[in-house]
Amino acid sequence: MNFYLLVIASLCFLTYISCDGCLQCNSKTEPRCATDPLSLFTKNCSESTGGAECYVRVIKDGYTVRGCVKELDNATKATCNNELECQICTYAEGCNRQMFPSSRAQCLQCSGNSTSSSCASQVYEHASICPIYKLGDLCYIRNSNRTADGSFQRGCLTSAQANKQCIKDGHCFTCTGRGCNFLQANDTLIPLARDSSAQLVLSMSLLLCGLLVAWML
Ligand SMILES: *[C@@H]1O[C@H](CO)[C@@H](O)[C@H](O)[C@H]1NC(C)=O
Ligand SMILES: *[C@@H]1O[C@H](CO)[C@@H](O)[C@H](O)[C@H]1NC(C)=O
Ligand SMILES: *[C@@H]1O[C@H](CO)[C@@H](O)[C@H](O)[C@H]1NC(C)=O
Ligand SMILES: *[C@@H]1O[C@H](CO)[C@@H](O)[C@H](O)[C@H]1NC(C)=O
Ligand SMILES: *[C@@H]1O[C@H](CO)[C@@H](O)[C@H](O)[C@H]1NC(C)=O
Repeated sequence: MNFYLLVIASLCFLTYISCDGCLQCNSKTEPRCATDPLSLFTKNCSESTGGAECYVRVIKDGYTVRGCVKELDNATKATCNNELECQICTYAEGCNRQMFPSSRAQCLQCSGNSTSSSCASQVYEHASICPIYKLGDLCYIRNSNRTADGSFQRGCLTSAQANKQCIKDGHCFTCTGRGCNFLQANDTLIPLARDSSAQLVLSMSLLLCGLLVAWML
């Protein structure tokens, strides 16, 4: 026990991070800020007087931001009292290090081919926190019945829709509840997805442009 305390103390000392500061991160640049906050280290708030007051909030486009209350502007601070959007706490209370909001969706998240990938066959994986926050987010399964990598996916509907997939009804299986997207790949509840990925179309056209340019040169 003492040994571990010693290790933790020296880690804090060596890396110049305080063990009672705040997590300071934005999931736009550090996805773990949303999906795995406990794996990140806290940092002291600058020129902090007294105990570290921390905040965690979700912002436009579903990103999660964590930091020191002193950085918040007055208006944001004044309205930071909502367990679905913004919360203030001390380090000891710990809200700044927990999944936020606590009701956030959690889904199986993986992708592979639809025939023999582990994503298609493993239905006992644990659910993980959705990277983008949206109230009432769902879990999904998308199967385009192809052998290419990525043609079978499990995940959070917000992430699929950010890629222009599963937008119209009937292309993906969706469900509510932690880890509910665990159906076998061959389950008849999963529709055949005919919506193509906009990204794929884009990258194909970029590739074609590239080939054309290369050919003309
Ligand atoms: C962080 O804060 C703690 C307590 O407020 C202080 O003891 C420590 O020296 C600070 N660390 C740094 C790197 O400023
Ligand atoms: C924010 O609030 C503090 C304390 O209530 C006040 O001193 C400061 O002037 C306010 N700043 C702005 C920009 O309103
Ligand atoms: C599907 O993916 C698995 C694992 O990623 C691989 O072993 C298998 O060869 C792939 N099948 C096809 C048809 O691409
Ligand atoms: C998916 O593909 C397999 C093999 O390519 C085929 O046997 C099956 O009928 C297809 N399923 C659907 C729903 O089209
Ligand atoms: C689905 O696949 C599983 C295992 O791969 C198999 O045991 C089951 O019979 C299949 N169900 C249907 C409806 O094809």
